[in-house]
Amino acid sequence: MPREKITLGFIGAGRVGTGLASGFARAEVEVLAVASRSVASARALAKRVPGARACAPQEVADRVDIAFLTVPDDAIAAVASSLRWRAGSACVHCSGAADLDVLKKAVADGALAGGFHPLHMFGEAGESAGALAGCAIALAGPDMLVEKLERLARVLGAKPLRLPEGGRALYHAAANFSGAFVIALIQETISLWGKLGIAEADALAALLPLLRGTADNVERLGAAGGLGSAIARGDAGTVRRHLDVLARVAPDSLELYRILSLRTIPLALAKGTLKPEAAKEITALLEKSIVKSVD
Ligand SMILES: NC(=O)c1ccc[n+]([C@@H]2O[C@H](COP(=O)([O-])OP(=O)(O)OC[C@H]3O[C@@H](n4cnc5c(N)ncnc54)[C@H](OP(=O)(O)O)[C@@H]3O)[C@@H](O)[C@H]2O)c1
Repeated sequence: MPREKITLGFIGAGRVGTGLASGFARAEVEVLAVASRSVASARALAKRVPGARACAPQEVADRVDIAFLTVPDDAIAAVASSLRWRAGSACVHCSGAADLDVLKKAVADGALAGGFHPLHMFGEAGESAGALAGCAIALAGPDMLVEKLERLARVLGAKPLRLPEGGRALYHAAANFSGAFVIALIQETISLWGKLGIAEADALAALLPLLRGTADNVERLGAAGGLGSAIARGDAGTVRRHLDVLARVAPDSLELYRILSLRTIPLALAKGTLKPEAAKEITALLEKSIVKSVD
């Protein structure tokens, strides 16, 4: 729990606004006011959060110590600029990529500006308020605000992650590789297995245990230690078979396979199961395949 009593408000009653406001309310942090573009969304959120009142965005800025702007990234600057901010209060956005300059109107009015980005994919507005337990929350802002945001992150059971000024876009772009792009890769397998007549539901049932096992291995052994694959074993013949079949049956997937394989080689070398000679042979195969695919 925060040491001193902090009152919170939310502008934007979508997935993140609902998840955070309900999580804080459940942890007995006072959420006084919620607003959104539509009154209906604000009311729906207020119903979930004991003690919160649905109101206009200006009332949120007027009443609370920390106002979270949980609106789409492209609306943050416009919403922050449309309000008057109280000196000493704080205006905090939840975008992973936007820097704090989008909140410059709040700073000009004497408020503090901060960032509070939960590293979590919110599926829908109604998801469990406890979903953030164990997740990282990336913070930014002046020290006196970040200290409060750190305590609020811990109240949700999450782990605060402090980002250097100007680092949010890189942090967020990089996080895609472990989040949304994993889904894109799952879809790649589903599509390729579809060519073998495997239905999506059956593919998912087979792939999810693989995904969970992979995450477990990485948790236990680290990124290099958790690696398993033909490349990790130094099995050049298998890589050649993969390249051949993709070139024939799914040439659109060849480049992706090639790039990811090249990125896997340093990991396999670090693990120690791929020997430098085999790494050279596999690299040559992968580089040759680009020439072929261009031809
Ligand atoms: N979704 C995620 O997994 C995730 C994860 C981490 C961080 N974030 C960040 O969290 C923020 C919110 O994302 P989200 O996924 O919660 O978006 P969302 O589900 O689309 O919800 C956005 C909400 O903002 C409201 N809104 C839109 N324009 C507004 C305006 N001009 N004034 C007031 N309210 C407005 C919408 O209102 P109405 O319903 O009233 O129309 C909607 O309820 C973004 O910065 C996003 O990058 C998202």
